[in-house]
Amino acid sequence: MAKDVIIACDMPDRESVMGFLGRFGGEQPWVKIGMELFYAEGPSIVREIKERGFHIFLDLKLCDIPNTVRGAMRSLRGLGADIINLHAFGTADMMRAAIEGLTDEHGERKTKLIAVTILTSTSEETLHREVLIERPLAEACIAYAGNAKAAGLDGVVCSPLESPVIHERCGEGFLTVTPGVRFAGGEKGDQVRVTTPAKARELGSDYIVMGRPITGAADPVEAWRRARAEFLGGNA
Ligand code: C5P
Repeated sequence: MAKDVIIACDMPDRESVMGFLGRFGGEQPWVKIGMELFYAEGPSIVREIKERGFHIFLDLKLCDIPNTVRGAMRSLRGLGADIINLHAFGTADMMRAAIEGLTDEHGERKTKLIAVTILTSTSEETLHREVLIERPLAEACIAYAGNAKAAGLDGVVCSPLESPVIHERCGEGFLTVTPGVRFAGGEKGDQVRVTTPAKARELGSDYIVMGRPITGAADPVEAWRRARAEFLGGNA
């Protein structure tokens, strides 16, 4: 899949997201649908956005026993999402079960599956004290990416800063989908470690996820074009 910019549509309902996407005219960017919109509107919102030609990353971060996740992925399979994710924390058995659920009766899997390693909202201190993982956070992230790769997943969600080491350990073809991206000089919001789209390109990110710098811009279509031009360089 070609590299691209994914717009995080963290919006509460169908009306807001359709109004937003309507501004793109004939252009069809990648859209990230998360729990907020999915739980408000149900699976039909995914089908509707897909039918309009947008590419979809369905960010539902599943984590449960393998049998439940297999069934959940089977239910999600027909919605037409291009990428779905889960938590690597759920173990390799759960990740393999997820792949089975996404695979159809002809042995085909049309949806890429990627794993969240350790949430960026978890600090090193919390990881040790509450989650009781004693290894350094960066090491745990890389180990989780390795588990995802071994289970047959297509990539991980990570910081652009982690893309180089993950590509080195898991291969260049292993996708790194990276949030925490901001325009130079822009507002950081609640993101702590941020990189620009151009820096994410240099670091080898496959997809960058940008929400508020695009959705909150005075001209979102212009902001999206700018993000693509910076991230894709001459290939936008
Ligand atoms: O608005 P902003 O660009 O910060 O949006 C980033 C998106 O990526 C949000 O939907 C957020 O939930 C998601 N995300 C993140 N960091 C992670 C995983 C997901 O910011 N580690």
